[in-house]
Amino acid sequence: MSSFKFADEQLAGVYRAIRERRDVRTGFLPEPLPEELLCRLLNAAHQAPSVGLMQPWRFIVIRSAEVRRVVHGVFSDASRAAHETYSDERAELYSSLKLEGILSAPQNICIVCDPDNAKGHRLGRHTMPETATYSVVCAIQNFWLAARAEGVGVGWVSIFDPEALKSLLGIPASFVAVAYLCVGYVESFAAYPELERAGWEKRMPLEDALYSEHFGRPYLPEEKNS
Ligand SMILES: Cc1cc2nc3c(=O)[nH]c(=O)nc-3n(C[C@H](O)[C@H](O)[C@H](O)COP(=O)(O)O)c2cc1C
Repeated sequence: MSSFKFADEQLAGVYRAIRERRDVRTGFLPEPLPEELLCRLLNAAHQAPSVGLMQPWRFIVIRSAEVRRVVHGVFSDASRAAHETYSDERAELYSSLKLEGILSAPQNICIVCDPDNAKGHRLGRHTMPETATYSVVCAIQNFWLAARAEGVGVGWVSIFDPEALKSLLGIPASFVAVAYLCVGYVESFAAYPELERAGWEKRMPLEDALYSEHFGRPYLPEEKNS
């Protein structure tokens, strides 16, 4: 047993945040988040690991209803195009899904990556330059988990033409638009992913994603391996 382990209650809190984090698209409340709370969440994001200590994330906090309306238009165009790729029942199901909370969440946050920034001196990026973007995703997950622990809902919207989103928000061409988050207090947190509840997709058991020694070889606990 590690002497660095958190106290039981703290440990339970960490696992609870992980288990009960949800992607939220409905039930946002209009009350804005207090500034200190938003800063705590952004600080949690900013403490994420990053390749070469590059910290390539940049956060654009959007509160303006006007900006959110235009962003929502970019979402609607992309969602219409996505809908056209499905047919029959899947198309019907797609149109029944609520896939964003851009207008109802009082805070939106666009998180972008500066993939060519010199900070970090390219450590870890010589062979895998995409690790800059992976680092930004780590920051987003920190934000998401801290938000759940604070009782704040977060919904990730990716249904955009990224170039249209970048141009709308004045994001430099060399940056990557990684995520657009809808953030706010919520009526409730669902026990299950919305897409599972709607019948779009099911969660798979861990066993289906877990292998031993080589890709595809079923995982066996250590005692059964030897
Ligand atoms: C990279 C990424 C992009 C996503 N984009 C969308 C999106 O555009 N619209 C949406 O409704 N949910 C989006 N989601 C949320 C997923 O649908 C959700 O995480 C998944 O269904 C599991 O549900 P849970 O997060 O509540 O566990 C996205 C999640 C990730 C990680």
